[in-house]
Amino acid sequence: MYAFEPDPAQPKAELYRELSDAARAITSGERDGVANMANVAALLWQFVPQLNWAGFYRMVDGELVLGPFQGKAACIRIPLGQGVCGVAAQSRETQLVEDVHAFPGHIACDGASQSELVVPVLRDGQLIAVIDLDSPELARFDAEDAQGIEALAAAISRVI
Ligand code: SME
Repeated sequence: MYAFEPDPAQPKAELYRELSDAARAITSGERDGVANMANVAALLWQFVPQLNWAGFYRMVDGELVLGPFQGKAACIRIPLGQGVCGVAAQSRETQLVEDVHAFPGHIACDGASQSELVVPVLRDGQLIAVIDLDSPELARFDAEDAQGIEALAAAISRVI
């Protein structure tokens, strides 16, 4: 059993430090990328409040393919450049979207989503996946959330 008990009232920087530490601990010594992504998706769900979806899309044969996640069943394949995830993957830049309905080409997998944060995961300069967080609240994510998830992406890029 893994007993991580995040305190949602603590400062975000501390919460994200704990999240990355937990992700490193839980993936340590495990080589199976699917198992590691599944556990990291569960940690995201446990640590980050006000989410309706959290998980991975993986780069497979030039397009994004759904990976382990928490939340409702989602779109399976996303072409590069399409939707928030596809733009993050193509640009290799974090996408912080305060209102998904104002984002051209946003792909609505769960109608509850109002804001979204998508962070590319790079390994040796190659895009291997994106981490996607959706929230039912407008403007749920800020620069501290983006930095926290970018730190997580760096922490797990060799084990997924
Ligand atoms: N909204 C995303 C699609 C993935 S779901 O949110 C899980 C997008 O526009 O890329």
